[in-house]
Amino acid sequence: DELHAPAESDVLVVGSGVAGCSAALAAAREGADVLVVTKATRPEETTSHWAQGGIATARSDPESFARDVLAASADTADPEAVETLVEESRDAVEDVLVESLDVPFDREGGELDYGREAAHSEERILHVDASTGKHVLGPFLNYLDDRERVTVRSDTAALDLLTDEGRVHGAIVDGDGDGTDPEPVFAGATVLATGGIGALYENSTNPETATGDGIAMAALAGADVEDMAYVQFHPTAYSGEDPFLVSEAVRGEGAVLRNADGGRFMPDYHEDAELAPRDVVARAVADEREATGEVRLDVSPLDFAEEFPDLAAKCEDRGVDWRQGIPVEPSEHFLCGGIAVDDRGRTDLDRLFAVGECARTGVHGANRLASTSLLEGLVWGLRAGETAAGFDAEQVEAPDPRDSDPDLPSGFAREKFVRLRRVMDEYVGLRRTPEGLRRATAVLRRLKGEVDAYTRTRTSRSLYELRNASVVALLVARGATEAEPVGCHALEESDADDGGDYEEVDASASD
Ligand code: SIN
Repeated sequence: DELHAPAESDVLVVGSGVAGCSAALAAAREGADVLVVTKATRPEETTSHWAQGGIATARSDPESFARDVLAASADTADPEAVETLVEESRDAVEDVLVESLDVPFDREGGELDYGREAAHSEERILHVDASTGKHVLGPFLNYLDDRERVTVRSDTAALDLLTDEGRVHGAIVDGDGDGTDPEPVFAGATVLATGGIGALYENSTNPETATGDGIAMAALAGADVEDMAYVQFHPTAYSGEDPFLVSEAVRGEGAVLRNADGGRFMPDYHEDAELAPRDVVARAVADEREATGEVRLDVSPLDFAEEFPDLAAKCEDRGVDWRQGIPVEPSEHFLCGGIAVDDRGRTDLDRLFAVGECARTGVHGANRLASTSLLEGLVWGLRAGETAAGFDAEQVEAPDPRDSDPDLPSGFAREKFVRLRRVMDEYVGLRRTPEGLRRATAVLRRLKGEVDAYTRTRTSRSLYELRNASVVALLVARGATEAEPVGCHALEESDADDGGDYEEVDASASD
């Protein structure tokens, strides 16, 4: 093989959603050379692309926005982080999204059209139909493509961080797209923007790529990870084949939830009915599905096809007559916790930053308010990118690559993933009990041991993803065992018979 110098960059960004793009843009504006590595091969493989509702901004009354964020979190969010988010929301959205990227936000009579979603006390959400994410991400990637200082390498996963005496010097990445030819990339600063953990659950509104990579890499390198118990479930994902998110904006426009008997039930659960905080609505939907067999979102109070053409088309593609109501169920949606960072996205490891869903900024506490995730990615991405510029890359010793075999391990990884999801769904999902969490921790610990033994000698991208998922699953189960039950994390009494299902999970654990 021809010898070539190892890759080097002032700033290495891992991930190409809105948070990663924001960090890259800000670092490049500061004069840094930026390399973005992303395992995505298309924008559709990032969670940002899938974001529907929109992006909240402070309008005339920033204080009411801050109050709403704190109230949705059951007062567990960090007030200073919330203030940063709210105060910078307008400038970040106007300067970057509207001015630089020319995002085609919906307008009425030439003016920006602000929508409303659950637990927001006013209309403050900018949106493009109900597919805001892809209309923000597309222009962002095009913009970065035109920047000389920014290089984006797609189909390239980061596998491990390069660390030396508490400082992060970049990452090992898979040079050939399947994890079998690892190579070091040295960087002055490294920004993790790898998104969430939807792949740990059977039903998720995230793409399959959401295997918690950044959180696992950071945790394995010794970074602090917090609030992992707080996994948010969205109340309304289509519950049939080929599920999709039915945006909260639809309830914001007046849609109501009905059980199989046709009864509207949310007013019995919360005074804000369908616009109650997300965790409340998700649990009510789960309860009513269990009690009556089905829950439908009744869209007859609004002009659904006119207001949400993309969603109406998705229903029609799946043969669902939305005029009869859309069958819905809760689905894993967002991790409120993650890698602990400060107000500039700095982790407790020198020169390692984290932004977006993989980071825990304190903005969401135990439950995230709708349409604040793109905003958090944007605001913290810009802050972290600006701070990360200005360090020089240093080359340190990289570990020897392991033997690799791209074909052999994929069956192993698939089988273990099935088991991991089964445990997460059963015990670490929307409903949790102390006994279930204890059992999940035991099974996941064993599973992680098997994965570690296997990956000690072999590598492939799917094995790294499995390793990452098993590290993160354990962090969630352990976090839930220790966390205060509030917001997304509710604990029920243990059922006398919940050992039955466990036997099934456990039996498959020893095969
Ligand atoms: C939605 O459109 O309902 C999702 C918005 C969000 O999760 O912030």
